[in-house]
Amino acid sequence: MLLRLEFAANTLYHSALCCSALVAVNHKTHYNQLLMKMKSAAIPATLLTLCAIFAPPALAEGNIDRGKTLAYTCLGCHGIEGYRNAYPSYRVPKLGGQKAAYIAAAIKGYRDGMRTHPTMSAHAGSLSDQDIDDVAAFIASIGTATVAAGGSKNTNLEAAQTCVACHGQNGISVNPTWPTLAGQHEDYLVKALNQYRDGTRKEAVMTQMAAALTDADVDLLARYYSRLKGLETTLPD
Ligand code: HEC
Ligand code: HEC
Repeated sequence: MLLRLEFAANTLYHSALCCSALVAVNHKTHYNQLLMKMKSAAIPATLLTLCAIFAPPALAEGNIDRGKTLAYTCLGCHGIEGYRNAYPSYRVPKLGGQKAAYIAAAIKGYRDGMRTHPTMSAHAGSLSDQDIDDVAAFIASIGTATVAAGGSKNTNLEAAQTCVACHGQNGISVNPTWPTLAGQHEDYLVKALNQYRDGTRKEAVMTQMAAALTDADVDLLARYYSRLKGLETTLPD
């Protein structure tokens, strides 16, 4: 089981790298030649599909000041230390120091139905793409120092060895579109992993990762990541 998972993670990680390479090359117009070479080298079609999944979206360039105004209502939940979702009861995720591109993707996830949560979907539904980039830029600007100070601790938990390829050795993600897990609330992490397992949160990579986890793995991983130094609650000034 663990081996299979490691293989999956490695494949995904390397296809992510290959994808970044493809995108970079694309800009230099050598893309087609490279693709031909890859095809002739019989790179499996799945790898190319994975590359498509990992094609980084245009990087968010939000306006922090505008985002601050827009985020006013958000802080009613996200800006209160330990604030809980009423039912089921779990703590509202910490956003301070989270990657801006991931925050933007998450909000779009609620807006476009990949994730479901009544309040979040309602809030996200009223935001334009520009609003989302601005809010994400503001939120990500809080707590970045703590995340940076998260250090270079090496993951020594066996169950987390497959996760480090994307979520980083210290729980701080290695790509702006992937979430940082370090310091996130334990019960929210449990909730998130279980949502991938039961299909209520839809995302190809994590669905595959989470499917291989047992209840005990989920508890262990959530406890581990929540105890690393990283994300903060976005407190209003
Ligand atoms: C009523 C409380 C409430 C309000 C107001 C609220 N949120 Fe949330 N937010 C939540 C909860 C609860 C979740 C977790 C939902 C889930 O389980 O998917 C969440 C999830 C998120 C996530 C995903 C975090 C992650 O790690 O994936 C982002 C990003 C987010 N909210 C941003 C916002 C923004 C921006 C606003 C304002 C426009 C906002 N929220 C307003 C309660 C709230
Ligand atoms: C190949 C890269 C990759 C690997 C390996 C990976 N993840 Fe993820 N993870 C992601 C991406 C991308 C997302 C965002 C998905 C989404 O939008 O829902 C994510 C999201 C998550 C979330 C939700 C975070 C939040 O704020 O809502 C958790 C929890 C998580 N991963 C835990 C893990 C654990 C535990 C492992 C190892 C068993 C793991 N991941 C392995 C890429 C990866």
